[in-house]
Amino acid sequence: MAVKQIIRMGNPILLKKALPVTEFNTRALDQLIQDMFDTMAAYNGVGLAAPQIAVSQRLVVFGVNHSERYPNAEPVPQTILINPQIEFLTDEVEYSWEGCLSIPGMRGLVPRCTRIRYSGYDQHGKPIDREVSGFHAVVVQHEVDHLDGMLYPRRIKDLRDFGFTDELFNTAQG
Ligand code: NI
Repeated sequence: MAVKQIIRMGNPILLKKALPVTEFNTRALDQLIQDMFDTMAAYNGVGLAAPQIAVSQRLVVFGVNHSERYPNAEPVPQTILINPQIEFLTDEVEYSWEGCLSIPGMRGLVPRCTRIRYSGYDQHGKPIDREVSGFHAVVVQHEVDHLDGMLYPRRIKDLRDFGFTDELFNTAQG
């Protein structure tokens, strides 16, 4: 069990395109995944991409039952997603307030495709293929963006819709 340090916006690793995972079923991969879940839990995250702990590989984890940071979010199954691909199934977009553990204390209003199909592999190299919508689709798009060096502020249409969470919503959420 190891909680890793999460690097923050400004660190150049977060702007890099991450490299595909080439070996599955290894101790190193299992360890990395465990560290990512431990880190995500310690920071009350709903998702984490490997580059956020300074590992520039195409691997994300996500999942939530109930989140303090996103109290109205629908549950998302705990997922390990490696070398992911996203197909957009509609032109419809919906705006929601996103946050990121690499940009602590802030939120921005970001448009995302409402219905996607995503595929990839789990830690054993077993294929994953799902069609999802709602919060699940938002989380996947946010996390996969990290693998291409994309942070959510670049997707905000109007920078007036970007700010500190407690100022925006007048609550104590981080
Ligand atoms: Ni993020």
